[in-house]
Amino acid sequence: MVDSSGSERGGWLGRGRGKVILCGEHAVVYGHPALAAAVTLGTEVRLRAETGPTRVLEARADPRLEAALSVLLPAEGLGVEIDSTLPVGRGMGSSAALCVALARAELARQGRRPSPGEVADLALAGDRAFHGNPSGVDTTVSAMGGVLRFQRGAEPRALPGPRGWRLVVLDSGVAGHTGALVAQVAAARPGVDPHLARLGALSDLAAANLDDLGVIGEIFNEAHARLRAVGVSTPALDHLADFARTHGAVGAKLSGAGGGGVVIAAVADSGDLLRAASEAGLTAFACDIAAPEPP
Ligand code: MEV
Repeated sequence: MVDSSGSERGGWLGRGRGKVILCGEHAVVYGHPALAAAVTLGTEVRLRAETGPTRVLEARADPRLEAALSVLLPAEGLGVEIDSTLPVGRGMGSSAALCVALARAELARQGRRPSPGEVADLALAGDRAFHGNPSGVDTTVSAMGGVLRFQRGAEPRALPGPRGWRLVVLDSGVAGHTGALVAQVAAARPGVDPHLARLGALSDLAAANLDDLGVIGEIFNEAHARLRAVGVSTPALDHLADFARTHGAVGAKLSGAGGGGVVIAAVADSGDLLRAASEAGLTAFACDIAAPEPP
């Protein structure tokens, strides 16, 4: 990984973290709190001076990427290299990480050393090209690192990383479409509002009990049930959450927009679950929470 605000001969570098939402996805769109954690997986971008229109150097067929570039970078004169360890479309914040990395690299090119908050603000403008009207939780936690309580209109609050338990990610292998799922939840309101309010309350309960695996496990399980009631889970995600619970996880929930993507499981020790997942032919990996970015 490169210095998050670094520049060097031959280009300008930027890095963005991936994320998992520990609680409060979808609820956060409507002003409820969410609890999110940056992960050590992420995206690096290198900008190179080039002649002609700004473009991604390797072929990528996503028109939303072109739209994000047009928001974050000058129209002319840059080649963009992208290197990512994040699964795409799995609710782990790949577009936010990309936009944070692009924003950091562009600000480095301008000779600036922005705060994580400034990076997050710029990156959010780029992430709108991907997801319409994101709440900002993904870009904020990607830029700031660590664990954050995020609520629209309030200062994000950094929390110490959890002790005594860890996360295992189980990947459904299916991409979810955040914009479409957010629209689906909007159409299901006001019927789903009590679930969204409860998810917000659970985020604050989780923030207050981050080191308590038993409480976190219960919160994950209730959050998953609420998200299913909101309509964003799938049979595959329900199966992965059940699988995790029957193989050592204290709690498990879908993380991100749903409709596909990943389940996160809270475990005291990842060994049993990872072994069982491997034997069952499932894609699963232990996932470390990233340290906060320096101010
Ligand atoms: C996506 O990671 C989280 C959602 O709440 C959307 C958003 O906050 O913009 C589903």
